[in-house]
Amino acid sequence: MLFIDTDPGVDDALAILMAHAHGSVAGLGIAAGNVGLARTTANALKLLELIDAPTPVFPGAPQPLVRPADDAAFVHGADGFGDTGYLPACRRAQSEHAALALLRLSHEHAGALTVVALAPLTNLALALSLDPTLPDRVRRLVIMGGAVTGQGNTSVAAEFNIGFDPEAAHIVCSRWGAFDLVDWELCLRHALPFERVEQWLAQGDARAAFYAAISRKMRVFSRAQRRSGLVVADALAMAVALQPDLVIEAQVRPLAIELDGALTRGATLVDWAQRSGRPPVARIVGAVDQHGFEHCVAAALGVAAP
Ligand code: RIB
Ligand code: CA
Repeated sequence: MLFIDTDPGVDDALAILMAHAHGSVAGLGIAAGNVGLARTTANALKLLELIDAPTPVFPGAPQPLVRPADDAAFVHGADGFGDTGYLPACRRAQSEHAALALLRLSHEHAGALTVVALAPLTNLALALSLDPTLPDRVRRLVIMGGAVTGQGNTSVAAEFNIGFDPEAAHIVCSRWGAFDLVDWELCLRHALPFERVEQWLAQGDARAAFYAAISRKMRVFSRAQRRSGLVVADALAMAVALQPDLVIEAQVRPLAIELDGALTRGATLVDWAQRSGRPPVARIVGAVDQHGFEHCVAAALGVAAP
């Protein structure tokens, strides 16, 4: 059973489609990040309406714990879904806060819940602060975040999810005993070839058509960045959560979050030589089976026998 904390967000949307195609979803916790909370919530509701999924949507924190941060509308569109101007969903979000919903569901699914964190970690940090025993009841935590050798995307050293709320990331990474980390640099290595994505979007079902519309802006941006393909970070993290055996290589290391560096705030500092004496809490994924990843994505877009 999955609990997904997310800030939809174009790559979040693909991850949510994958979760519903291949897994069981107890709920979506919504964060501010790519765009503001009202829009990330509306986007989640629209996506679930598209696939007619009964998954409850729990809005969470509207801003980071301490300092304000810039969104990623320049990548995802002002509305977070490629500015397609879609008709808002008829369904409504729950009134329960994402942090409280996560705590409740961790009891209802004790020992069986996989938490997939695809957004800034504000909601998870709040849940942990309210109940430090949360990790004891969670089977697995997979985090999309960080840049383990300092090659960030929101600044030189920081990746967006961590850089948006470093204090929240510090709370989660220092108090959650063990987690899988899918960092930005891994996502760059596992970009989806542009032409293959275009084929899937042409061959798929209504999910593919919707994704083609909301991802158009991001696909143009990605090509302009001269990347090797479409980087869908949250989809890669979701593939690792859904199919752990896709992981080919991983290393478990201590990891800390820089909070104060003038140039490095939000950086994920990995103790590769294990010289700090801190506990090795992060299982840093180094390589994933690319074919298996692409199959997981294509199937979620309705591509038969991808
Ligand atoms: O750095 C990539 C992450 O930031 C992804 O989760 C993307 O959706 C953005 O939130
Ligand atoms: Ca995200």
